[in-house]
Amino acid sequence: MERTLVLIKPDGVRRNIVGEVISRIERKGLKLVAMELRTLDAETARTHYEEHAERPFFGSLVEFITGGPLVAMVVEGERAVEAFRALAGATDPVTATPGTIRGDFALEVQQNIVHGSDSTYSAEREIKLFFPDL
Ligand code: GTP
Ligand code: MG
Repeated sequence: MERTLVLIKPDGVRRNIVGEVISRIERKGLKLVAMELRTLDAETARTHYEEHAERPFFGSLVEFITGGPLVAMVVEGERAVEAFRALAGATDPVTATPGTIRGDFALEVQQNIVHGSDSTYSAEREIKLFFPDL
């Protein structure tokens, strides 16, 4: 069965919508396989977002994602990568469709509540980074 890495970013934890996000994942029929509340160190954050290392917002993104506890989860199900990206909505919450997590709860592109792996290849790399024992 396909797996994806989901993060409820520090803004989601700060705003007390962890339960809301998990509820949407469960209602969709996806299964939680692993879950942890933790604060990322900068090195793990840089590795996680390594494909964005050259982007102008990289420093700010690393600061944001390490700025408080986040919830990391492994989520499993039929086409889990695509299924969760559909629940999350577009990267920019202003244009994310209402009904999606970002469309319903966010307004700023950086503070967009959740992360979901963008391919099965990324999922494998990210799951190893967050849950090396899985
Ligand atoms: P993730 O699931 O978090 O990887 O989001 P994504 O796949 O929808 O978007 P992408 O991988 O392109 O960007 C990673 C994260 O960087 C986004 O979720 C935002 O938090 C942040 N980000 C993306 N674009 C911008 C931008 O133009 N400015 C700022 N400040 N942050 C951005
Ligand atoms: Mg991404």
